[in-house]
Amino acid sequence: MENQKKYILAIESSCDDTSAAVLCNKTVLSNVVANQEIHKQYGGVVPELASRAHQQNIVPVVHQALVKANIDKKQLSAIAFTKGPGLLGSLLVGTSFAKSLALGLNIPLIQVNHMQAHILAHFIEDPEQKAPPFPFLAMTISGGHTQIVLVKDYFDMTVLGETLDDAVGEAFDKSAKLLGLPYPGGPLIDKYAKEGNPHAFEFPKPKVDGLNFSFSGLKTSILYFIQRNVQKNPDFIQENLADICASIQHTIIAILMQKLKAAVKETGIKHIAIGGGVAANSGIRGKLKQMETDKGWTTYIPKFSYCTDNAGMIGIVGYLKYLGNKFAEQDVAAQARYHI
Ligand code: KG4
Ligand code: ZN
Repeated sequence: MENQKKYILAIESSCDDTSAAVLCNKTVLSNVVANQEIHKQYGGVVPELASRAHQQNIVPVVHQALVKANIDKKQLSAIAFTKGPGLLGSLLVGTSFAKSLALGLNIPLIQVNHMQAHILAHFIEDPEQKAPPFPFLAMTISGGHTQIVLVKDYFDMTVLGETLDDAVGEAFDKSAKLLGLPYPGGPLIDKYAKEGNPHAFEFPKPKVDGLNFSFSGLKTSILYFIQRNVQKNPDFIQENLADICASIQHTIIAILMQKLKAAVKETGIKHIAIGGGVAANSGIRGKLKQMETDKGWTTYIPKFSYCTDNAGMIGIVGYLKYLGNKFAEQDVAAQARYHI
């Protein structure tokens, strides 16, 4: 079956991006993402508004994905959709749409775990990325997730550690908010950090057992740090923005790298794949490259458009499941908490 051309339509709606993609086997023909600007004014994602925006976006986004791929609905072999984890109201929109379309076209339906998809995005065939060999360690870092996963095969994954509270992207975004920067602040912290001294200020690192993470304490210590200094000097933030950003970013990266090194030590695996929106961070990318030289790791970073939430990554899982005849029934339901 691998030699035949199979066209998969994939739908992603787990958070605040409505996305649809068409794949021909492992190649992405189109990957349309509609970002929801509406959340900016609230400084974070508002679930009810996200769900409503998905309802408005889904038909035009799917239509565009088919047009861009130059594929007619009748050519599709299956429809893959994100079952979870994510915001239930958002997941429901993509799930219901996928179910109705699959029923209407009389083609199989494939359920996809969003976290598996962030990892399997590495297997999309694209000149800008290479797939890691099994077994490898995957670190998924985004606004909603922080996990270190041992990947033995496409569908044989074990979570070795995850965040006990905030995701790493939230740590970036919430720190940025405390500095008066707009949402999402992660990319801005990255930008200002480039000009600053990462050792200008010290923030405490959490003490968490095993390979789990915690980021809520960091947020609190940054809040007190800012309050304390602004009391003494009202212009403290403006005068020290680059140094503050560099120091925050340095702390977050140190927390991530400490756990990643521990995971390598525990498993003996030195193939490291990262994914999720925070993988765009230049400091993290630089540190991983440095580990290639210092520790002999081989690191894999997907093309940026496959790092952030997108349906292309849902489509590759769809194709791999299609090959294994792993189909869902029509009574399949969206699931907010859905483990790998
Ligand atoms: O994967 P993604 O698009 O959506 C979620 O599943 O959350 O990730 C978005 C997160 C946001 O928290 C955003 O601030 C963060 O990724 N992000 C960054 C950078 N670019 C995006 N964080 C730090 N540095 C960046 N360059
Ligand atoms: Zn995600």
